[in-house]
Amino acid sequence: MSRYYLTTPIYYVTARPHLGHAYTTIVGDALARWHRLIGDEVHFLTGTDEHGQKVQDYADAAGKAPQEFVDEIAPLYADAWARLGITNDDFIRTTEERHKAGVRELLQRCYDAGDIELDVYKGKYCVACEEYYTDDELDDGDLCRIHKRKVEYYEEENYFFRLSRFQQRLLDWYDAHPGAIVPEFRGNEALGLIRGGLRDFSVSRTSLKWGIPLPWDTKHVAYVWFDALANYITAIGYGTDRANFDGWWPGRHLIGKDIIRHHCVYWPAMLMSAGLEPPAGWAVGGWLLVGGEKMSKTSGNVVNPLELIDTVGVDGFRYYVLAETPYGQDGDFTYEGLVGRYNSDLANNLGNLLARVATVVGKKCGGVGPAPTADSPLAEAAATAVQQTIAAWSEVQPSRALDATWSLIRATNAHLEAHEPWKAEPGPGVDAVMGDALEALRIVAVLASPAVPTAAQAVWERIGMPGAVTDQRVPDAVSWGGYPGGSPVVKGESLFPRITA
Ligand code: MSP
Repeated sequence: MSRYYLTTPIYYVTARPHLGHAYTTIVGDALARWHRLIGDEVHFLTGTDEHGQKVQDYADAAGKAPQEFVDEIAPLYADAWARLGITNDDFIRTTEERHKAGVRELLQRCYDAGDIELDVYKGKYCVACEEYYTDDELDDGDLCRIHKRKVEYYEEENYFFRLSRFQQRLLDWYDAHPGAIVPEFRGNEALGLIRGGLRDFSVSRTSLKWGIPLPWDTKHVAYVWFDALANYITAIGYGTDRANFDGWWPGRHLIGKDIIRHHCVYWPAMLMSAGLEPPAGWAVGGWLLVGGEKMSKTSGNVVNPLELIDTVGVDGFRYYVLAETPYGQDGDFTYEGLVGRYNSDLANNLGNLLARVATVVGKKCGGVGPAPTADSPLAEAAATAVQQTIAAWSEVQPSRALDATWSLIRATNAHLEAHEPWKAEPGPGVDAVMGDALEALRIVAVLASPAVPTAAQAVWERIGMPGAVTDQRVPDAVSWGGYPGGSPVVKGESLFPRITA
């Protein structure tokens, strides 16, 4: 059994969870579920990023102490993920003691290696990004390109991480690990940043108190990105439980395209400095845009994912975010798109297939599912769907994986329409068609379970399969012929009632 350690970014606790956060977390969850399905031992981590200037500013504006403020917001993330069926194995908060201990250890290692040195920082800082910028990275000299807001001028004594020393080591590492970043074009962006030259970055602040003090100079608190990136190792025991850490690291990161520099440039260099292995991989997603803009509290176009599940259900929402946008590209969220996908793929395709199969089995097969045939024309469609679904998940392309899985649903609906078992007399002919359709539904339930876990389990039970669909293992469970036949098939309520907008 191989171990698969997967992380999402940890989210700033400055606002309640929005669609953009939900997007990254759902992709992570589906991927984690997929890896459990193929038999990996999975550790799936998410959490919250709670220190830094931005959080301090929000706490001030709310008239609260920062700890009180973050203690109110962090649970909103944990609750939202529970409602969206997220199966994270751990939830790290950067204000936890286990995290602080690991951050101190990482800082000390980099300091002892001579890669952290005192210097004076003079320059511009975007608090929303928690990032330093040079003039040519800003619009009109002082506007952040992501947040369209004015940067601040800082001048203070800071410790710097000597990133500039790592250019060649990073290039060599990426050279030796082709495909570590997917999709490839996002990997090229990271390489472009490294080739373009690396400047040292500040890893401490003295004007800010809301952070983790440097172990060797407690007037300074750690820069929020240094603190935050470390969550990926502190959560599995770096600084507190070395054996557990060694058992899981290196892990794989799901990130958004806006945080490539931190994750694919700063982070592996920090790890190298501390004598640790760089991550095993990165999958970089685009932004889910609303009206062409990145959703963020700063731009005021925030969509609450928990309101959307009232309309299309948890599975409907998960399916939409996974199926609609090729991972890596930007996507445009629209309510019409959400309802359109739900109606076409879930109500009309999957839901309708299950309903018609259950109806015909009820009327023509005495309500008992017949066994599939070995030489069914659907067997080939199933084999192709399985193979393409596996390939797409392994490349972190959920939209392609679901399209491949849905190709079997489409083929099965077409098979039924070609044979019209509802018009035929009961007998071996009808039994063969219905047994094959049930077998296709069984395979679909397994393959679709990472995306639509509740619906997949419902399909599984209604066609008479025992136990939990999540206990099945790919590829054995998805080879043709596994439906035993002889079990009662239940029609039940409509799985995905059509939504009239
Ligand atoms: N706290 C940092 C990450 C630290 S990880 C060590 C941060 N937090 S964030 O809450 O602003 O965003 C976290 C991630 O969510 C980013 O990768 C970002 O791309 C993703 N998303 C935030 N808004 C998004 C969209 N509108 N669309 C897609 N992803 C978005 O950055």
